Amino acid sequence: MEWQRKDLLGLEELSAEEIEFILETAASFKEVSTREIKKVPALRGKTVVNLFYEPSTRTRVSFEVAAKRLSADVINIAVETSSVKKGETLIDTGKNIEALKADIVVIRHGSSGAPNILSRNLNISVVNGGDGWHEHPTQALLDMFTLKEKLGRIKGLDVCIVGDIAHSRVARSNIWGLTKLGAKVTVCAPAMLIPAEIEKLGVLVSDDLDKVIRNADAVNVLRMQFERDNQEAFPKQLEYFQKFGITEEKLALAKKDIIIMHPGPINRGIEISSEVADGKNSVILEQVTNGIAVRMAVLFLVSQGKEYQDAHPH
Ligand code: CP
Repeated sequence: MEWQRKDLLGLEELSAEEIEFILETAASFKEVSTREIKKVPALRGKTVVNLFYEPSTRTRVSFEVAAKRLSADVINIAVETSSVKKGETLIDTGKNIEALKADIVVIRHGSSGAPNILSRNLNISVVNGGDGWHEHPTQALLDMFTLKEKLGRIKGLDVCIVGDIAHSRVARSNIWGLTKLGAKVTVCAPAMLIPAEIEKLGVLVSDDLDKVIRNADAVNVLRMQFERDNQEAFPKQLEYFQKFGITEEKLALAKKDIIIMHPGPINRGIEISSEVADGKNSVILEQVTNGIAVRMAVLFLVSQGKEYQDAHPH
């Protein structure tokens, strides 16, 4: 297929074919990271700006590594020391990045929809690095890439997403992506962490992890996002860990080769035990490695999409 989108804002708007195409493109880029000289010239002469309004380790570094492997120039804007602190608006910051002749801006923001606002106001490519509770598309893509690599397919897999569904952009993007590619998705959490009407997105809902984990091919464990809400809205940590924490006792109920995923950062002893996080079923660090190939694919494709749109103006 010919990629036509200049932005990646979320998986809700992508077709199954487009998602498959990103995963196939990522597979072709994965090999680059195994070379002695880990570089291809695909984005030589292009500039990628990382504009992160929220903390990040994996996503920011992964986008930087991905851009450098494609031979792009990379600029990281530290919002804390930028003119955002003098009251500059998101749109003005974006327009200045565009005026500085960047080609792609990767944005992480605490407000849902911030990447969409930039996309509507800029001509350069915009990539969502996580916005509020809305979407984290490259995380879900790397989760799906890892599932496909480990289990050979997405269609028909039984995937359980456990934890703080209510505050999770990772959950939302995974739900859009996995259901489009034909997986059976169950979200599992205490009722207070399940958003109303989530079933309408095509998922099953359960508060019985002991039951759900028995049939699961993979469990994606979410971090409890204590920073996002009133702590009163959260269950007590010990109580949560006993019922929903992924421990060796829970794994004893599951298929022997179940895949344990986590987007990171992990909270050991809160949503996952150290034994499981570091154990043989865990693919947590492989997810991080796969993030490079997935983000190389996304940066490459949005750059192609920009060229397509410039050649086919509306
Ligand atoms: N998974 C993820 O988004 O991690 P960071 O917050 O470290 O980028």
